[in-house]
Amino acid sequence: MKILLSVFLFAICLLLISWRPGDANLAKGPKGKKTYDKVCSPCHSADAKGIPSFSPALSGSKIVLGPGNKLIRVLLKGSAELKNYPNRNNKNEMPAQVDLKDRRIANLLTYIRNNFGNKAPAITADEVKLERTKL
Ligand code: HEC
Repeated sequence: MKILLSVFLFAICLLLISWRPGDANLAKGPKGKKTYDKVCSPCHSADAKGIPSFSPALSGSKIVLGPGNKLIRVLLKGSAELKNYPNRNNKNEMPAQVDLKDRRIANLLTYIRNNFGNKAPAITADEVKLERTKL
């Protein structure tokens, strides 16, 4: 019985030693990637180049790279916000992503602003929260 117990304790120790929170995060990839892959990539494609005659590219998009508050509004309101932009000729609708949590939207937008050849400042959850109060 004692042997069983020490084998058990030894196994627990091994588990604790091998468990590293950092590794788990690395395996998941950068923050925001999971949401992009799941929610956005079916419509904007995995490389964010968009789908011809269906959706615009997020790679190199002026809206993605522009002021953070405006980009947040596009996410929260979808096409209802995009209609305010000049020269929109897209027949398809971008659904509002209002159900995503502030932090998730912040991570997602920071991700698309710094991948796919894009480079723009990060978006914080507080900025998303503030923009939500103005809808
Ligand atoms: C159902 C398909 C669909 C999904 C899902 C979707 N989009 Fe869109 N998105 C569109 C379409 C279509 C447009 C153009 C709509 C318009 O002009 O009114 C668009 C436009 C945009 C734009 C404006 C880009 C520009 O330069 O004109 C951004 C930014 C954007 N989407 C980001 C996202 C993000 C981030 C996600 C994931 C949360 C997402 N979209 C999910 C279809 C989608």
